[in-house]
Amino acid sequence: MSALTELYKEIALCQQCEVAKFRNNVVPGEGAEGSDVLFIGEAPGWHEDQQGRPFVGPAGKFLDELLASIDLKREQVYIANVIKCRPTGNRDPLPVEIRNCRKWLQRQIELISPKMIVTLGRYSMAMFFPGKSISKIHGTAQKRDNVIYYAMYHPAAALHQQSLRQAIETDMLKIPLLLAQAKNMTEAETEPQQLKMFEV
Ligand code: URA
Repeated sequence: MSALTELYKEIALCQQCEVAKFRNNVVPGEGAEGSDVLFIGEAPGWHEDQQGRPFVGPAGKFLDELLASIDLKREQVYIANVIKCRPTGNRDPLPVEIRNCRKWLQRQIELISPKMIVTLGRYSMAMFFPGKSISKIHGTAQKRDNVIYYAMYHPAAALHQQSLRQAIETDMLKIPLLLAQAKNMTEAETEPQQLKMFEV
């Protein structure tokens, strides 16, 4: 059994937040464990909670299309979320839920060890680009400690809004080139105390 599978058994037992009482399934994430790219969304929705799998509703269908535009299938990348249980009534995740779930995401990142982390939406972006605005930094990348961090809009937001849809489609097309150039990209200048993942 892989270390990630072991981790998912632990996540399934987590009862730290109130939402754990209402979940049908915990949604830790899925994909290729040695993938170069880790996509991080926000939180499971209704469909994800039903199936225990990330991005399987309409936003997930769009994410699959975006991946296909760069000749990737979801099985070739890794897909996870900031929080692993569905917020009741599809509300935004609470700061306490994000804090409680950080340790799981941190361990996923350590185990997957991706070359590139793609944040989908502002909650995920806020963990890696604190204080930034998604409308300003989407489609831009930063290399820190040998990992490329890349911010994109959330597929659900882009699904019905034409301008965001064009932006997310264009941003997705930049991923292969960024990966190909990963080795030569210069590291961003960060403060020594700056962590790889930030407090929200
Ligand atoms: N939106 C997300 O952020 N994550 C999912 O898994 C599904 C929809």
